[in-house]
Amino acid sequence: MANTLQNFSSHYAVLFTLLFLLTLVGAGEHHRFSRSLSQAKHGLKKEKLSHLRFFFHDIVSGRSPTAIRVAEAPTTKNSSTGFGAVVMMDDPLTAGPELGSKLVGKAQGIYASASQTELGLLMVLNYAFVEGKYNGSTLSVLGRNTVFSTVREMPIVGGSGVFRFARGYARARTHKIDMNTGDAVVEYNVYVLHY
Ligand SMILES: *[C@@H]1O[C@H](CO)[C@@H](O)[C@H](O)[C@H]1NC(C)=O
Ligand SMILES: *[C@@H]1O[C@H](CO)[C@@H](O)[C@H](O)[C@H]1NC(C)=O
Repeated sequence: MANTLQNFSSHYAVLFTLLFLLTLVGAGEHHRFSRSLSQAKHGLKKEKLSHLRFFFHDIVSGRSPTAIRVAEAPTTKNSSTGFGAVVMMDDPLTAGPELGSKLVGKAQGIYASASQTELGLLMVLNYAFVEGKYNGSTLSVLGRNTVFSTVREMPIVGGSGVFRFARGYARARTHKIDMNTGDAVVEYNVYVLHY
C-alpha cells in the first residue's frame, strides 16, 4: 500500500516536472513585440533647443575632391540644371569659414539635381560630428536646396547619440563660391530640439 502511494506520488512528481518544463519551453517561444516605457525612466526628461553653427566645404575640384559625381542620366549633360546628376559627399564641417579652422564633423551623404527648371538639389545626408560632447553623434537631413537662393532651409529629420529624437531645421547661406572650380563654402545654422 505504502509502495503504491510512493509510486503514485513519484509519477506525479515526473508529471509536474514535465509540465513545468513545457511551461518553460512555452515561455521561451513568447517574444514580446512592443511595450510602453516611461519617458522619464528612459532619460527623456526635458527637451532642449540647441543652435549649431558651422561651415560646410564642398570641394569638387583638384586632386582630392570631397564631393564626387557617381551617376547621371543620358540627358544630364544636355540639361541646364544638370538634372539627374548624383553626387556623393564627405564634406568637412569646420567651426570657422576657413578649411584650416577647427574640424567639427563631416557632412556625409548624397546631393542630386532634382529640378529641371532651376538648380534645386535633393539633399540626403548625415552630419557626423567629432567635436566635444557631440563626437560620435549624428543629425540626419532630408531636404531641398536651391543653391542660388540666399537662404535655403532643410529639415532635420532625426539623429543619434546626444541627438536621439532630434527634429529641427538647418539654414544654409553660401559664404563663398568659386565659379571656375565650383568649390563652395556654405554657412549652416542648425536649430534642433533634442533631449
Ligand atoms: C544633347 O544635345 C546634343 C546637341 O544638341 C544632341 O546632339 C544630343 O543628341 C543630345 N543628347 C541627348 C541624350 O539628348
Ligand atoms: C572622437 O571619438 C573617437 C572614437 O571614440 C576618438 O577616437 C576621437 O579621438 C574622438 N575625437 C575627438 C575630437 O574627441
